[in-house]
Amino acid sequence: MKDVVYPNHLGIIMDGNGRWAKERGLNRSAGHKAGADNLINLLDYIYNNTSIKVVSLYAFSTENFKREKNEVDYLMKLFVTLFNSKLESIKKNNVKVVFSGRRENLPNSVIKAMDKTTNDTKDNTKGILNICLNYGGDYEIVDMTKKIARQVLDGSLNIEDITKEVVSRNLYQDLPPLDYVIRTSGEKRISNFMIYQSSYAEYDFPDTYFPDFDSKCLEESLDNYRKRDRRFGNA
Ligand code: IPE
Ligand code: IPE
Ligand code: MG
Repeated sequence: MKDVVYPNHLGIIMDGNGRWAKERGLNRSAGHKAGADNLINLLDYIYNNTSIKVVSLYAFSTENFKREKNEVDYLMKLFVTLFNSKLESIKKNNVKVVFSGRRENLPNSVIKAMDKTTNDTKDNTKGILNICLNYGGDYEIVDMTKKIARQVLDGSLNIEDITKEVVSRNLYQDLPPLDYVIRTSGEKRISNFMIYQSSYAEYDFPDTYFPDFDSKCLEESLDNYRKRDRRFGNA
């Protein structure tokens, strides 16, 4: 492993699959397939060659259900294949896989594959892969608020004891803050991705579409991270 600085928690907004396919005269599904293949290689690279401990991936937003049924159905099938077989190397690499998002509206096949993956990897210790699926940062805050309100109502939590740690524990996953977020495809917005956890994150918006965003592109982006002056409010 190289003796260089890596973010502890990296977020990846995997965007541009559709445009990648369109440029090649292919349908959007072919773009998602190419994106998934690239993802497997990228994750292998990250967990074998860097000291990045936590990776959060934006796989499907709550808003993505607005897309055509064809595309949504294809993506759901792709997730099942991905979790059931393609993530095998991740599992073998001692990485713990967790999920963030609402379970409602997801097909049973996807829920089953998610639960199996979570269970298969629950004792892994080398790193964490947080997959944001049917995820919205705004809904995460709504759901956290409900969880905390219930604890106050049933008497297990005093209002005065609500701290940042309590908030973090009641999010979908209790993860360290995001250090760096990469959104591929040149779009410069975060589209509802981990808005609470990214309060002090650095951002990069490379133009490359996700299916072409390989380990070399990742290292180039990480070089940008190393040049950032993270101040956290200090002078
Ligand atoms: C990202 O690629 C994948 C998902 C949102 C599931 P897009 O499908 O958004 O690709 P573009 O933005 O249309 O190119
Ligand atoms: C964000 O990408 C969601 C994922 C990458 C899963 P979108 O392509 O859905 O975002 P918008 O619609 O361009 O903001
Ligand atoms: Mg997009």
